[in-house]
Amino acid sequence: MNAPQFTNIQACVFDAYGTLLDFNSAVMNCADEIGDDAARLSEIWRQKQLQYTWLRSLMGTHADFWQVTGEALDFSLDAIGLENPELREKLMALYRKLDAFPEVSETLRSLKAGGMRTAILSNGSPDMLAAAVHANNLQDLLDDVQSVEDVGVFKPDPRVYQLSVDRLGVGPEQICFMSSNGWDAAGAAAFGFNVIWVNRYKQPTEHLPARPDMVIDTLAPLPEILALTAQ
Ligand code: LAC
Repeated sequence: MNAPQFTNIQACVFDAYGTLLDFNSAVMNCADEIGDDAARLSEIWRQKQLQYTWLRSLMGTHADFWQVTGEALDFSLDAIGLENPELREKLMALYRKLDAFPEVSETLRSLKAGGMRTAILSNGSPDMLAAAVHANNLQDLLDDVQSVEDVGVFKPDPRVYQLSVDRLGVGPEQICFMSSNGWDAAGAAAFGFNVIWVNRYKQPTEHLPARPDMVIDTLAPLPEILALTAQ
């Protein structure tokens, strides 16, 4: 599956939430306590979290992703009519140690073995990202963890994608960016990255100005796509 369009890639940059980390794992770990509304709560929480990032960026009222995630959770608990401060604290604590998807470690290991540089580029605040990376023992498989807090605005503002260029010291055309979020994949493609949309959630294609170069279901085929397995 050697994909000829991905030539001269120097670094693989990954979105975190939904791409490396399973954001549903927080709610699923409390599913018994939440009951029938567990899946709905998780869906509203994620949607509201993202909406708040976009709204805050447009309003010029940035707050870090930890605060936004908590505010989105408060909305979501209200939406399902659940008032339970202890559960709220438990869900927030779980968000700091979300499960990585099963193929993540092995994929990062193969990429590193093939000489690829690896990084996270995420809305997450530095402490949230560090906690989740360590909880999944990924710290030695990542060369850099980049947070939007360095630019004070959320994805898909182009300043966020520029952060990877600046921190890695390579051109956008030398970066392959992976996201499970179709809108993030579009933002990164519009910026000029090579983009692979990891369509874990079987979403339809976004109708936005830029498209990803490739679509895959999980990260497992990535080393082969980048022709790293033979090295
Ligand atoms: C992130 C969100 C968009 O990690 O999933 O940046």
